[in-house]
Amino acid sequence: MIEKTIGIMGAMPQEIEAVVQLLDDKQELVLGKRTYYSGKINGIKTVVVFSRWGKVAAAATVSCLILEFNISELIFTGVAGAINTELKIGDIVIAKRLIQHDMDARPLMPQFEIPLLNKTFFEVRQEKINAATIAVNHLIDNDHLSAAINPKTLKKFGIGSPKLFIGDIASGDKFFSMKSDKESLIASIPSIKCVEMEGAAVAQVCYEYDIPFTIIRTISDTADEQSAIDFPLFVKDISSKYSAEIIKNIYKQFG
Ligand code: ADE
Repeated sequence: MIEKTIGIMGAMPQEIEAVVQLLDDKQELVLGKRTYYSGKINGIKTVVVFSRWGKVAAAATVSCLILEFNISELIFTGVAGAINTELKIGDIVIAKRLIQHDMDARPLMPQFEIPLLNKTFFEVRQEKINAATIAVNHLIDNDHLSAAINPKTLKKFGIGSPKLFIGDIASGDKFFSMKSDKESLIASIPSIKCVEMEGAAVAQVCYEYDIPFTIIRTISDTADEQSAIDFPLFVKDISSKYSAEIIKNIYKQFG
């Protein structure tokens, strides 16, 4: 049997640092301005990398993971802005489908459709959603959460009992910081739970190479005028810890 290799990407350096700490026998390789950290987590070959921001950066990074490191599966963890008003800061979204909200080749094809693929949404395989669900539920269980993150820190960000949502995520080359932009996104794609800048690009490349993928996002902001406030602090104190814990919980399920 071919040995599996997991690629782990994150869009913030702090999140990647927390996951790099989990690697045994760590080695580093710099390619195209990114440092790829390879090693083993629980005995499984793993490559961890900070993707940088935006769809091009993410697509370039995942292509390198597939072609240079031969990954058999990809996991992306990072932060996102809430679009659906039910979502609160500290909640977690597992992507069911991903869409590129800035793809618009009208009148050649319908808005959001990816040219030549006849697709608007990239679906995540159900078994990957199931594994991520077990991992996230384990983290957000009260006892595990307060063991992973100091309750005072959680309180500082107004995080009580975070919830898990499984649904659609939109990606594009835009940081949402205006309520009016958020409202027009909801109006055009009502099923969207949250917005970020990489997931659907990763999903497209994985779809094209037939690589299973998982996208997990922690809500860091409300994608409106408040979205820049405490963003770096949130990543350092909360989402980097969430990412490392979720990755550990996913690896526990690998046979
Ligand atoms: N990632 C985290 N917050 C975001 C926002 N408000 N817009 C786009 N990407 C994000």
